[in-house]
Amino acid sequence: MNLLITAGPTREPIDAVRFISNRSSGRMGLAIAQAGVDAGCKVTMLLGPGVDDATLPKAVRVERFETTDDLLQLLNVHFPKADVLIMAAAVADYRPLQTTDEKIPRAETNLTLTMEPTPDVVATVAKQKRTAQRVVGFALESNKTLAGRARAKLARKGLDAIVANPLETMDSDAVDAMWIDASGQSESPGKMAKEKFGAWLVHKVSSDWDL
Ligand code: CTP
Repeated sequence: MNLLITAGPTREPIDAVRFISNRSSGRMGLAIAQAGVDAGCKVTMLLGPGVDDATLPKAVRVERFETTDDLLQLLNVHFPKADVLIMAAAVADYRPLQTTDEKIPRAETNLTLTMEPTPDVVATVAKQKRTAQRVVGFALESNKTLAGRARAKLARKGLDAIVANPLETMDSDAVDAMWIDASGQSESPGKMAKEKFGAWLVHKVSSDWDL
């Protein structure tokens, strides 16, 4: 199975030295990559900035992205060769409308940044899916609304399955995820280390979809 995994945050530049990003550690994606290699998959990783790839198995092909646009371009190259895309990257929802190659100087007045929505990367890629390809998204949600909002995202983005996690997952060693697929089936394997969940997920994908 050819497994394509995206992980880590995007960075959207404000000026030559500043950016908007988020707290994603990329650890979930790295755990899935390791589990994929252990299961005999051919693994390609698209990794965001600040994520150390030193812990990745040598067998993993790594490409780096910074911005949402970089990630979309890399997916256009690598998705056609993948059987399964696991979209664990924490993609910015908004980016500064204008950026500059200069450094914005300090002034004693307020600074207003106008932001524009980024493209929905996984929804764009899912539209290009061939029949035999599968796309798995991730969703971070507060516990109260987790299942409902994750189901809505799965449908809106045209995914085959979504892994819904409570907000506390970000920056944590453990996950308490819920798997929901497009046929409405769901499964909660319980709270476990990200490494163990990576193995659970790779097994779930390869056994459910017989790829
Ligand atoms: N995602 C994406 N492109 C974006 C935003 C999100 O591809 N511009 C992907 C994420 O990688 C993830 C899935 O969409 O696999 C869900 O991300 P999430 O942040 O939970 O959802 P959003 O679409 O951002 O919705 P909301 O901000 O309302 O939670």
